[in-house]
Amino acid sequence: MSKTAVISGVTGQDGSYLAEFLLDQGYRVVGMVRRSSAPNLWRIEHLLDRIELRPADLLDQLSIVRLIEDVQPDEFYNLAAMSFVPASWDTPLLTGEFNSQGVTRVLESIRQVNPKVRMYQASSSEMYGKVRAVPQREDTPFHPRSPYGVSKVFGHYITMNYRESYGMFACSGILFNHESPRRGLEFVTRKVSDGVARIKLGFADSLALGNLDARRDWGFAGDYIKAMWLMLQQDSPDDFVVATGETHPVRELVQIAFQHADLDWEKFVKVDPRFLRPAEVDLLIGDPTKARTELGWHRDVDFKGLITMMVDADLARLEHHAVPAQPLA
Ligand code: NAP
Ligand code: GDD
Repeated sequence: MSKTAVISGVTGQDGSYLAEFLLDQGYRVVGMVRRSSAPNLWRIEHLLDRIELRPADLLDQLSIVRLIEDVQPDEFYNLAAMSFVPASWDTPLLTGEFNSQGVTRVLESIRQVNPKVRMYQASSSEMYGKVRAVPQREDTPFHPRSPYGVSKVFGHYITMNYRESYGMFACSGILFNHESPRRGLEFVTRKVSDGVARIKLGFADSLALGNLDARRDWGFAGDYIKAMWLMLQQDSPDDFVVATGETHPVRELVQIAFQHADLDWEKFVKVDPRFLRPAEVDLLIGDPTKARTELGWHRDVDFKGLITMMVDADLARLEHHAVPAQPLA
């Protein structure tokens, strides 16, 4: 009997890779999508004949209950969220509704309909914020630095609380930054790979960025979604850090990306204070030892491989655009 999985956030970066992976494992995959006047299906267009899409919204408890009743899943991957950190200062209340109470709505819906459904919650390294220890592990205290980080801490603890209160199989993956050619254009890796491609092809003559000294632990999304699945295949539920164990400054990401296109980054990159944040997370570096030893998880793509893959993908995409759209940020 094949298993059934619901993925909330199936139209996002991680949802698209996870849907592909679960289909390969023989799953029936149901994607939860919110209504929009202009459907945002570009990341899953190639999967539309193999997955089912069902309407529901993190803001609407009844829609989630109905979805679980209709689909009767074995696993629920809660990837849907407002995921762009700067936007969380613009919409702190809505961010909390999605990323905090949205998680409670999913957990409570599962509890009411079928508490045996296994649930994955997308927690974030942004919860460590002003880091209390280096590297960050599962037991490192949190000190979030954005409304997004605060909202994810709530989501993390309410997942743990439903596990402990009701014995539900609910796990959080504390995932460090993971990227791909399907990353949104507003995140720094994709903004850089897209910017390099535009400059190389003559569509732009500069790229405005913010803090070049911030350091992140960056991996490839296609590797990270495998850890989500592994967490739900264990004998008992637990939380895991998923990271590479390496950290790199934004400046190094920029150097690698421009160099890959034979461009001198210092001629094109401008620092624009508009892209600085009210409070910054200066350094993230995760310790994935527990995921490696208990889940058998490892990453395949290294930092340079990730950045060059993204630049190549944006060059290939933009070569065919006569009048390319401008990036969002
Ligand atoms: P993403 O590309 O921004 O995708 C977010 C998804 O959430 C989209 O499918 C979006 O749908 C959906 N969504 C947002 N609000 C919703 C609502 N009210 N109801 C239903 N769906 C809603 O994010 P991602 O990079 O794939 O990340 C997946 C999850 O992992 C997020 O929870 C993120 O916070 C977390 N995370 C990401 C990283 C990372 O580095 N990528 C690291 C740690 C944790 P639309 O298409 O309709 O907008
Ligand atoms: N977005 C952006 N744009 N970031 C910039 C820029 C710029 O022009 N210039 C410098 N940066 C710096 C940011 O200040 C930050 O320190 C770093 O690049 C990474 O920014 P993002 O790519 O926007 O990602 P993030 O780390 O804030 O958040 C991502 O990772 C989290 C996990 O740690 C998101 O995917 C979150 O959803 C995720 O939880």
